[in-house]
Amino acid sequence: MEKMLLKRVDIPNATDIDVAVKHGAYAMVPKAFEMRPVDVVNEVKQANLRGRGGAGFPTGLKWELCARVHGTLKYLLCNADEGEPGTFKDRFILHQDPHLLIEGMIIAGYAIGAERGYIYLRYEYPKGVSILEKAIEQAYAKGYLGKNILGKGFSFDLSVHRGAGAYICGEETALIESLEGKRGQPRIRPPFPASQGAWRRPTVINNVETLSNIPSIIAMGSEAYASIGEETSPGPKIYGVSGHVNRPGAYELPMGTTLREIIYDHCGGIRGGRKLKAVIPGGASTPMLTEAHLDVKMDFNSLVSAGSMLGSGAVMVMDETVNMVNTAYVLIRFFAHESCGKCTPCREGTSWLYQVYHRLMHRQGRPDDIDLLLYICDTVKGKCFCPLGEGAIQPVLSSIKHFRADYERCIKTGECGQA
Ligand SMILES: Cc1cc2nc3c(=O)[nH]c(=O)nc-3n(C[C@H](O)[C@H](O)[C@H](O)COP(=O)(O)O)c2cc1C
Ligand code: SF4
Repeated sequence: MEKMLLKRVDIPNATDIDVAVKHGAYAMVPKAFEMRPVDVVNEVKQANLRGRGGAGFPTGLKWELCARVHGTLKYLLCNADEGEPGTFKDRFILHQDPHLLIEGMIIAGYAIGAERGYIYLRYEYPKGVSILEKAIEQAYAKGYLGKNILGKGFSFDLSVHRGAGAYICGEETALIESLEGKRGQPRIRPPFPASQGAWRRPTVINNVETLSNIPSIIAMGSEAYASIGEETSPGPKIYGVSGHVNRPGAYELPMGTTLREIIYDHCGGIRGGRKLKAVIPGGASTPMLTEAHLDVKMDFNSLVSAGSMLGSGAVMVMDETVNMVNTAYVLIRFFAHESCGKCTPCREGTSWLYQVYHRLMHRQGRPDDIDLLLYICDTVKGKCFCPLGEGAIQPVLSSIKHFRADYERCIKTGECGQA
């Protein structure tokens, strides 16, 4: 498959607009402007593009809901928070090909009728601020942003908004609150952002990778795009692979590539020739899988059938030396720290889980600790205000399900990995 998302990341200085344009950047802006906005929306709908931020919501449908509202200021937000442990795929686009994202945002803004856009950037990506701001400045200078773009009557302003370092601000409604200058906590839905989002105006919020797919859809047409990868989740996908593989990194592959192909063909197998123990397929909040799942296709539907989720496509690979109690401890520590505190099950549940793991990791495990962990998860499951709480219990539940022996050994002998 020819690269669409990472096609310019290896070109030296592709962050410079002249270099990027020489290699095709912004070529789809005039083409999209030849189409009616509604036709651009329909093209994205027919391409069956699903959001790459984690939930897999159909992008065209989201755009349509917002595009239908007329006569008001609308916003287009790019979610560049990328705070899920293990996830680093968006960074490649942000740092190495920002003009791809800006091009996608101009076309998206045109399609939905938004004249104002923001890129909400993760606090921990300080390098990204200057790269994006320079790229935006260059795009203004070349007439791709601002008033009456390319003389076609559409105006679009874009700027970067830096987060303050909270994972919850990647959740779309918390992101909106934060953008408005409030404390980053989720809003009740409905109303959904498409009807009442930023400053209560119709708003589309999309992930970096999602928006970066748009120029390719316009270039090749929805039919050709929809034929890539899996029928139910077509297109290319950036899998960010980390952990015990020989060649970790970001791999752009057709959606639905199997875990086995990713780990063994593209990443060169497990480091030191060891055995694979566990894989977290889509970022910290997606349930762990095992060697038995190597032939699972990495797409939205196949992973749900296998008992996990595609999430952000952040594949974390662990070899046989890893103790899964330790892995779950590290992840639950993160979630307990990042729980925004708005609802009791998540706020109390994650910190209670953390306390039990802390005890286990300090050789003070008790015989009924596995049951206690499962009980706490039950008090969290299905009772949280936003998906963070539900995601937080996944490492606990899946590690107990697949690696119960690690817990039993930890409680019995105190061998739990390194705290
Ligand atoms: C706790 C939490 C963190 C999230 N973090 C991100 C993030 O960093 N980036 C992202 O694109 N989506 C993130 N999401 C998903 C967003 O809420 C939203 O679904 C997404 O931005 C929509 O864009 P998409 O349709 O293009 O995927 C997060 C969701 C939750 C619950
Ligand atoms: S589930 Fe957690 S992060 Fe979400 S609103 Fe409740 S306390 Fe906040």
